[in-house]
Amino acid sequence: MRLDKFLSDMGVGTRSQLKKIIRGGSVRVEGVSAFDPGMKVDEDTVVTVNDHVVTYERFSYYMLNKPSGVLSACEDKHDKTVLDLFPENIRRGIFPVGRLDKDTVGLLLITNDGGLSHRLLSPGSHIDKVYLARVDGELTEAHVKAFESGLKVDEGFTALPAKLEIIKSAPELSEAKVTIREGKFHQIKRMFEATGTTVTFLKRLSMGSLVLDESLSPGEYRRLSDSEINDLKLL
Ligand code: URA
Repeated sequence: MRLDKFLSDMGVGTRSQLKKIIRGGSVRVEGVSAFDPGMKVDEDTVVTVNDHVVTYERFSYYMLNKPSGVLSACEDKHDKTVLDLFPENIRRGIFPVGRLDKDTVGLLLITNDGGLSHRLLSPGSHIDKVYLARVDGELTEAHVKAFESGLKVDEGFTALPAKLEIIKSAPELSEAKVTIREGKFHQIKRMFEATGTTVTFLKRLSMGSLVLDESLSPGEYRRLSDSEINDLKLL
């Protein structure tokens, strides 16, 4: 591949920024200054920028703190999507693993690793997903039991047993942690609706071993660490 592609894939800059950086003499290939952005390199070539080694990784993994109001999609004619939150040079080839509703916030994994995505989303994988939910009514032990015993959401869908941990309960606003092992359309909203309450706020806190980094503000993302990636691959 071209040297500027190698570096842009790794998020060092856009192709036009990289042309300037390379022509400016900051880049070395196998220890030798490289001035040609089109120079051919491969994934194992030792490339440094300002003496820092840039390792080529075929797959990229990011956690995004999804804000409200953006779609979990790659592109949309009308609405902003989660990929619009990433700069153009790293947007190519990445996609969200699964969907959160437009108004749901929190943890969303973004990657270009189709194999991992497929494994995480496959119906048989039953990975725990933990959400913080606020609802507009009181939550009681009856709700906990109903979630635990496999809630009949509607004629066509009975949820797998889910865990409801009430954080606070009041007649007009309650808060709870919910753990589900499926990912059906609007699942949590529909589960609460089936018990007579409406979700007013929903945030995903974790997916399997991957926990939302609370230092990320809504709309911010970061690369996963090596141990976060390895743990996900073990799920
Ligand atoms: N359940 C929902 O209802 N919405 C989401 O976005 C995720 C889970």
